[in-house]
Amino acid sequence: MSVRIPENLLEDILGRVDIVEIISGYIPLKKSGRNFKANCPFHHEKTPSFTVSAHRQIYHCFGCGESGNAFRFLMRHEKMEFPEAVEILAKKAGVILPEQNNPEIARQVSLTSQLYKINELAVSFYENNLHASGASAFRDYLLNRGIKLQTIKEFHLGLAAYEWNSLINYLRSKGIGLSLMEKAGLILPKDAGGYYDRFRNRIIFPIFDIRSRVIGFGARVMDNTLPKYINSPETPVYIKGKNFFGLNLSKDYIRENDFAIIVEGYLDFMIPYQEGLNNIVASQGTALTLEQIRLLKRYTHNVVMIYDGDTAGEIATLRSLDMLIEEGMNVKVVPLPKGMDPDALVRREGVNSLKAKLQNAKSLFGYKLEVLKCRHNIKDAHGKSKIASEMLLTINKFDNAILRGEYIKRLSEEIKVPEHYILEELNKLKPNVGVRSDEGLRVKKSSLGINPAENLLIKFMLEERELIEKIMQELSPADFTDIRTAKIVSVMYDLFTQGKNIEPSILMNYLSEDDASQLVCESMFMPELLEQEREKAVNDCIARIKVQRLKSQREHLHIQIKSAQSLGDEQKLNSLIKEFHNLIKKGD
Ligand code: CTP
Ligand code: MN
Repeated sequence: MSVRIPENLLEDILGRVDIVEIISGYIPLKKSGRNFKANCPFHHEKTPSFTVSAHRQIYHCFGCGESGNAFRFLMRHEKMEFPEAVEILAKKAGVILPEQNNPEIARQVSLTSQLYKINELAVSFYENNLHASGASAFRDYLLNRGIKLQTIKEFHLGLAAYEWNSLINYLRSKGIGLSLMEKAGLILPKDAGGYYDRFRNRIIFPIFDIRSRVIGFGARVMDNTLPKYINSPETPVYIKGKNFFGLNLSKDYIRENDFAIIVEGYLDFMIPYQEGLNNIVASQGTALTLEQIRLLKRYTHNVVMIYDGDTAGEIATLRSLDMLIEEGMNVKVVPLPKGMDPDALVRREGVNSLKAKLQNAKSLFGYKLEVLKCRHNIKDAHGKSKIASEMLLTINKFDNAILRGEYIKRLSEEIKVPEHYILEELNKLKPNVGVRSDEGLRVKKSSLGINPAENLLIKFMLEERELIEKIMQELSPADFTDIRTAKIVSVMYDLFTQGKNIEPSILMNYLSEDDASQLVCESMFMPELLEQEREKAVNDCIARIKVQRLKSQREHLHIQIKSAQSLGDEQKLNSLIKEFHNLIKKGD
């Protein structure tokens, strides 16, 4: 449920729990000076660099940079979503969250829990049908497809009977109303009035969320009538593209193996899973969504895609690849021969054949290039240009300049075009930093780190509230060149103006961007300055940021002047030059 929890409640919770106590519930902490230390649970190390500050109520690892407040620790360590972490700490703190006293939200909560319940009832009804004595033909269908009885049970597969209203009658006998059945997507209204079962004469594949609650159903015909599968419609508990089939079973295996195999279909999941390839998920057809990728990212950053050997699979793979890279995942691809899917491959050649293919998975670069080579003629100039521009779209998605350089080199070798032409094309593409439609500003991790003056000023302001007023008069958030520092400063100014608490552990609740929170923690763990050094340092930082602002203003003007020159716009040119001189005077 996406209910925004008011920041003052978050503050209340954080004020009543102790981060040292919480973290030491998971890892042993040792006192070290003012702080506590441990071997970092987020990366492998032999000497402890994971530090918890009881005073600041934050943690930071000097080794891997992971840091945050108590919420963040639970999210990272226990792989929880934010609301879950809040719920747990609220309970500990005895803080009552709005869910419990807002009637509208309470109603939603009870509707979703009713839907889980009715889905649960439907699962057991369908399951009983499949194991009834009259249903041997249906069980044989599954057994013939290589699914063992034990697997049928493990996945709670079921059968929707031929009748039009057997589920309706069953659920009614359990006291469930028609409106709830309809909300669960299990029944449909008839034109003439009344309702009928949505799924009839089909094998049922229940779909579970990661907490193993039934959220929906897929249903397959046994002959070749179309559509082959029908699925639950969207309901308050089943949102398409937000879950993976099977992740509830495979998540621990994925974490252990530190990679996930992504396949398309229910059977493509079940057959390899049954044969011991357990770190697998099924996207349920089509390309991956951002939500799915983020869900998977809680368990691993490495994926291997094995989509069907057909055009649809190829297109879905290509579309998913770019999104996976943008989300910082490492991707490989196992292409399958035409007409083959993982289910068929494992049944025909055994699971080891699939494992061997996994060993030889193609890099995404190699895969995409191969697909493009089949589509375009690599020998002629047009073909080369088509291939290059498609590949560049993907290459441009990499954050890392070294990787980009490496791929450009390889592309140049493949299409036999000198690197500098390719680079020229790459430069024409919009820089891949910044704005993202789904979440506004997104900050790319910079390997250059943060401007030290900006970082220090933030630290000073956090340590000494009175400084904020002074700095506010000198600098605006936009003077901070890093998007992260700019964001932090703008939030701090806001909170200060509203007279609110600006403790680092609380400030973090206002920063949706992980990087920004990290930065706050990092700066708090930087060495402290002596009182007498501090004032000079503050002034130096302010001066430095002002110089930097002047420089960028000049650069900006310079570009405008050049453009006015080339357009021959005399009037504009004159006013720009005047402005430029004024700026230079200011700088002196
Ligand atoms: N799918 C769907 N609706 C359809 C077709 C497909 O929801 N009309 C989803 C299902 O999750 C299906 C997946 O897309 O498992 C892959 O589709 P497809 O490759 O056509 O089916 P298979 O999984 O191979 O199913 P089967 O082997 O039973 O034919
Ligand atoms: Mn199949």
